[in-house]
Amino acid sequence: MSRIEQALEKAASSRGVKTHNPTRSEVAVTAEKQPPIKYSSSESDFDKLLEAPQININNPMLVAMGDNKSIASEEYNKLRSLIVELTHGKEFRNTLLISSSITEEGKSLTALNLAIALAKGYDHTVLLVDTDLRRPSLHKLLGLKPEVGLIQCLRDNVPLSQALVKTGIGKLVFLPAGGTVSKPVELLSSNRMKEVVNELKNRYPERYVIFDTPPVLPFADAQVLAPTVDGVLFVVREGRPKAHEIQKALQTLQGTKLLGTVYNDAHSYVKKRDYYYYQ
Ligand SMILES: Nc1ncnc2c1ncn2[C@@H]1O[C@H](COP(=O)(O)OP(=O)(O)OP(=O)(O)O)[C@@H](O)[C@H]1O
Ligand SMILES: [Mg+2]
Repeated sequence: MSRIEQALEKAASSRGVKTHNPTRSEVAVTAEKQPPIKYSSSESDFDKLLEAPQININNPMLVAMGDNKSIASEEYNKLRSLIVELTHGKEFRNTLLISSSITEEGKSLTALNLAIALAKGYDHTVLLVDTDLRRPSLHKLLGLKPEVGLIQCLRDNVPLSQALVKTGIGKLVFLPAGGTVSKPVELLSSNRMKEVVNELKNRYPERYVIFDTPPVLPFADAQVLAPTVDGVLFVVREGRPKAHEIQKALQTLQGTKLLGTVYNDAHSYVKKRDYYYYQ
């Protein structure tokens, strides 16, 4: 095993999960075993979705709530404008996947803040999906303890309507992971997942759907999901990944529609004079 492979294995085990890249036949077998997904007739009705009882909107990491103008919230507004521009072409490219090279680069924070920025400043429903089935964190950032989520929809035929949560932040709807699974790649590459992505994409054509994923280098999850979405947003946290890691992750994502890179936690970018406007 090469040193890089050893490092990846170590990163994987520190997240409590073994790296698993399925072979084509494994994926095919998993897909064939699944019966077709069933949807309840009411799930297209936004008003009938579960309302989140205790969203933690005071979490200081949710900077895109934008109640105090800060450099960070302005950056999310800029990101929102860029995304709106990049996704409104001949067709509306409404499904976006967020990933990064390695762990803890700020994927989940970016996914959530971008979703909030879109939901607050853009008058359409935004659906945020936690597709990190190894170490889901979006529900924690929102202060939620969901009982069901994507896993139960995929595995146990729970209707999507029973797992979607209205956050009360604009028209932001959240689909939690619903726990963790030992072989997320199998679930994410199943026909059932493709059906769910299509369903989420097409049911409300004006809605952004944002998928938060595990990092690209240790895990194949983002790689198997990327071809099913319209665009990939790649997060790089200042000082975290090495240049060769970024390069390798981007190579892995080659062939997918890379929309751009979010440079996160960028101390070198924030110049002292910028603070003047916000103090
Ligand atoms: N710009 C930032 N400023 C301050 N803290 C940050 C920033 N970005 C991320 N963090 C912190 O770093 C940690 C990891 O962030 P986050 O969970 O968003 O990363 P991730 O890439 O989703 O991680 P994982 O690979 O585990 O899914 C969190 O504690 C988060 O609060
Ligand atoms: Mg995360």
